[in-house]
Amino acid sequence: MTISSTPGKIILFGEHAVVYGRPALAVPVTQVHADVEVLDSDSAGVWIQAPDIHLHAELNTLPSDHPIASVIHNLFFLSRISPFPSLNIKITSTIPVASGLGSGAAVTVALTRAVSTHINYPMTDEQVNAFAYEIEKLHHGTPSGIDNTVITYAKPVYFIKGQPIETLQVAKPFTIVIGNTGISAPTKESVGDVRKLWEADKAKWETVFDEIGNIAKQARKALESDSLLSNTLGKLMNQNHTLLQELTVSSPELDKLVSAARSAGALGAKMSGGGRGGNMIALVESDQAESVATALIKAGAKNTIITQVS
Ligand code: MEV
Repeated sequence: MTISSTPGKIILFGEHAVVYGRPALAVPVTQVHADVEVLDSDSAGVWIQAPDIHLHAELNTLPSDHPIASVIHNLFFLSRISPFPSLNIKITSTIPVASGLGSGAAVTVALTRAVSTHINYPMTDEQVNAFAYEIEKLHHGTPSGIDNTVITYAKPVYFIKGQPIETLQVAKPFTIVIGNTGISAPTKESVGDVRKLWEADKAKWETVFDEIGNIAKQARKALESDSLLSNTLGKLMNQNHTLLQELTVSSPELDKLVSAARSAGALGAKMSGGGRGGNMIALVESDQAESVATALIKAGAKNTIITQVS
């Protein structure tokens, strides 16, 4: 049996602008994970069970562009395995779908690692990441690659599309409360809508992307310097949220949670990921995490996660 597990992720700064080449910061969230188990099977074929999405099917009965099938087909093709093995693959995930926590990328990375190891086609992290990016492109239009990168390396990253991976050294651990609106919002749609805005007025939106990119740069400095951390980071989150509102990717539900977190004493708060639904994040002093989480639930969050970034 071969097993693989990957964390979820949150974007701290720079979502959307990262698609246009600006830097962004993202961290793994280990409280949620995607897990894949691969076993040799007695019955012919590749049997896939993914109870969370009510899937139990043989590989060849799935459309070839199905997100799970496309990973397996592409791995068989790359490894030139022949004949195709008989396998039982079980996929489970505690990462809510379309919530900004990287559920699709996490399943892709865990599946890639488990299947490639099981069929004796070892892949380095770099190869897994490049493979997962190709799969993200098949399903999400124009992704920046930040989701597959932070999930593959399971470390805080400072990410610029197309550039070598830079992992971050966080000077002092800090606490984030994640609030889930419970509204599932496919990233592809918000990314597509931002593209329409940009196409209609490139000069205007390039300026907004520059501002977001500058926030991500300043946030990196703050994260790497103990003294700047809590003073600066919260303010930068608030500024980043305002720019995401301008980009039309926030929503009344996200704005309500962001305001509730700030009123409950968070140092700063913003939506995180594709937006329109999904999650928001709040930077808190660790002894305030519980009260901010309670305020988020009162303001309509379906659930919350408290996570330490270190
Ligand atoms: C999604 O987690 C982050 C976005 O910036 C899209 C991307 O980078 O591909 C919204």
